[in-house]
Amino acid sequence: MDFGLTEEHLMIRDAARDFARTELLPGVIERDNLQKFPTEQVKKMGELGFLGMMASPKYGGGGMDTISYVLVMEELSKIDASASVIVSVNNSLVCWGLDTYGNEAQKEKYLTKLTTGESIGAFCLSEPEAGSDATSQKTTAIDKGDHYVLNGTKNWITNGNSADFYLVIAQTDKEKKHKGINAFIVEKGWDGFEVGVKEDKLGIRGSDTHSLIFNDVKVPKENRIGEDGFGFKFAMKTLSGGRIGIAAQALGIASGAYELARDYSKVRKAFGTEICNHQAIAFKLADMHTNITAARHLVMQSAWDKDQGRNYDMSGAMAKLFASQVAMDTTVEAVQVHGGNGYVKEYHVERLMRDAKITQIYEGTSEIQKIVISRGLLKD
Ligand code: CAA
Ligand code: FAD
Repeated sequence: MDFGLTEEHLMIRDAARDFARTELLPGVIERDNLQKFPTEQVKKMGELGFLGMMASPKYGGGGMDTISYVLVMEELSKIDASASVIVSVNNSLVCWGLDTYGNEAQKEKYLTKLTTGESIGAFCLSEPEAGSDATSQKTTAIDKGDHYVLNGTKNWITNGNSADFYLVIAQTDKEKKHKGINAFIVEKGWDGFEVGVKEDKLGIRGSDTHSLIFNDVKVPKENRIGEDGFGFKFAMKTLSGGRIGIAAQALGIASGAYELARDYSKVRKAFGTEICNHQAIAFKLADMHTNITAARHLVMQSAWDKDQGRNYDMSGAMAKLFASQVAMDTTVEAVQVHGGNGYVKEYHVERLMRDAKITQIYEGTSEIQKIVISRGLLKD
């Protein structure tokens, strides 16, 4: 394995680092408090090319590799995981799904707007009774010849209200189980499509998470992605790459918390010396750095697997499983290093701790990652 970061990789990483510090950091506490979507910042990220990094240049994408993408995800997530999940969903679920499996007309009509940030996308698989058990879809899309009629409810959808285009997974033939599932492109504003309540969340409070209600929504047949019955595989294949992005998000949250804890320990004094001189604190930093380095290796390996055209189902799941645990452990310890200040919003680590938890839940819980990994191990 040679991750060999090129000059170009370092440039894009530095651009993301700079953007995070100058554009995301200033309002991050306020956005978290007010559950405010980072509209201006998302617009700027579109201009910088962060919203369609891996998509084909032909459709306005950056044509970059997955290594570049995880470097950007890590840097943004060090400061603002609400902003980075918007980037993650748009890049690896929506743009990648359309670029890889959409037809020419779909790419021309939708992808060209999504890669530039002119429009934002959402990926809609989960339902009130179908989260981990994703084949138990209750949303139906009934074939009416030249269109489908979509009915049902999706839950916890990231970019739920901010999106313009939604990739919606629905059951078209219950008898066929997962082979009777399809994926559709649905536009905001279509008759019968309603954005439901906004969730009041523990973390990533700047990202908007909504339920979506479909009531006899007419979806033209040309908006189905791929062959009839491809929807579940579409979702699984797309999520395999998505998990690499969330692993990088977890890595960024952990790195951000570690850097804050390290810096704080060098200036805060107790018992006549900086607290980093107490071995109990220094050892926490050693554990954090070791775990983060291990997580970074897994994240880079999964990105590298994807870039090399190798299978990345397992390596992406391992990266997400491990990095999300590291994010939890590191942020909890970063709060501890900060003492009372760690419990106060101004010092950022309490937010990172709240943000870390979601990385163990979305795009497949940690238990689901273990299912993916163990099935992969035992397959042959
Ligand atoms: N690639 C291609 N095909 C795949 C696949 C993959 N990675 N994983 C499964 N499949 C195929 C299987 O081969 C099988 O097809 P065949 O019968 O033709 O072989 C079919 O899908 C069904 O597979 P399983 O029998 O393994 O299905 P299962 O019911 O046991 O579930 C699961 C498997 C891995 C648990 C899956 O349901 C899963 O991933 N659940 C978690 C859902 C999830 O991650 N949701 C995230 C929502 S998006 C989100 O969260 C975004 C965000 O927050 C920002
Ligand atoms: P459940 O499936 O009910 O699981 C509950 C518990 O049981 C978990 O601990 C789980 O690991 C465990 N469990 C379930 N089955 C098994 C099993 N077979 N073996 C062992 N343990 C098991 N979804 C989207 O489609 N699009 C989005 O954009 C999106 N964004 C989200 C944003 C946020 C903030 C949140 C909170 C969720 C989001 N989700 C999204 C949904 C998310 O993917 C699901 O919450 C997640 O997949 C888990 O599903 P669930 O909540 O129904 O939990």
